[in-house]
Amino acid sequence: MKFRAPGRVNLIGEHTDYNDGFVLPVAIEMQTIATATPAPAMQFTSTSNPPAGWEAYVLGVEKQLRRRAVPIPNLAIEFSSTLPLGAGLSSSAAFEVSAALAFIAAAGFELPAMEVAKLCQQAEIETVGLGCGIMDQFISLHGRADHAILLDCRSLAWRPVPIPEGITLVIADTGVKHALASSEYNTRRKECEEAAAALGVKSLRDAIQDGGYKRARHIVSENARVLAFVEALAANDRKGLGELMAASHESLRVDYEVSCPELDAMVAAAQQCPGLIGARMTGGGFGGSTINLVETGEASAFAAKLAQLYPGATIHITRAASGAGRQNP
Ligand code: GLA
Repeated sequence: MKFRAPGRVNLIGEHTDYNDGFVLPVAIEMQTIATATPAPAMQFTSTSNPPAGWEAYVLGVEKQLRRRAVPIPNLAIEFSSTLPLGAGLSSSAAFEVSAALAFIAAAGFELPAMEVAKLCQQAEIETVGLGCGIMDQFISLHGRADHAILLDCRSLAWRPVPIPEGITLVIADTGVKHALASSEYNTRRKECEEAAAALGVKSLRDAIQDGGYKRARHIVSENARVLAFVEALAANDRKGLGELMAASHESLRVDYEVSCPELDAMVAAAQQCPGLIGARMTGGGFGGSTINLVETGEASAFAAKLAQLYPGATIHITRAASGAGRQNP
């Protein structure tokens, strides 16, 4: 049995997920495939270049499933992935989700996709040590072709938002590897909890003013940008999309302080490339990739120019893909 789980790129709504806010991610075509066969003992192998300690992701998921009394039989699982590592495209969530689907199917079990997302998130928090939100695991399971998904991370209500025709997603990887577990990611999360407590609200989602806290100002303004971005997509307002992406990047750079010189340079370089609608950093930050919305007719010219302006960039032209599931042989 083969199961595929895609990586993701987030269009807007960064670091809002663990603050009960809104996110607007897209599942991408690059993915991980887990091929499972019955075996005398558990055995995990990888045919691609897996992250150091990658077995922890799989064991973490197995532990969460056993805790939920899923009777997993012994399996040999072979993983292969087309996702670059540490590029901010959620290769870890793709690992977790593909493993989870293989375990659940082999056990003859069924679990709602949102439960699978939650237990994979729990595996990442407990086993990998990253206090992440639910966005990456959620989108790997719920992606839809040619759509972004608006998720309310408090209620977990979600809806697909069509990406207007003629817009292509161009991901530009700076090559600066980020390992979020050892970055300031967990510090940001703690700062948000402290700011919420000081403002007397349950989470920064509920903050009306920022109280002078830069972290809070980012969350409050970013949530508003996600909702405005959804409207701009519906109205096919390309100028509005670009302005919101620029404001998001600026807020992540100045108020949230999770960008880096390479991400800033990549966003600046994109402004000089043909067909740009909007550019910003995507994912956790501290390295990784930018997301560029580009006029489809100009996508190749855009990528060529960006590669020229930013030597060493790895550029992926992609589209919104469907979420994880069984892969026919
Ligand atoms: C990482 C985390 C997500 C989210 C983003 C930032 O990808 O895994 O939960 O917090 O960073 O938006």
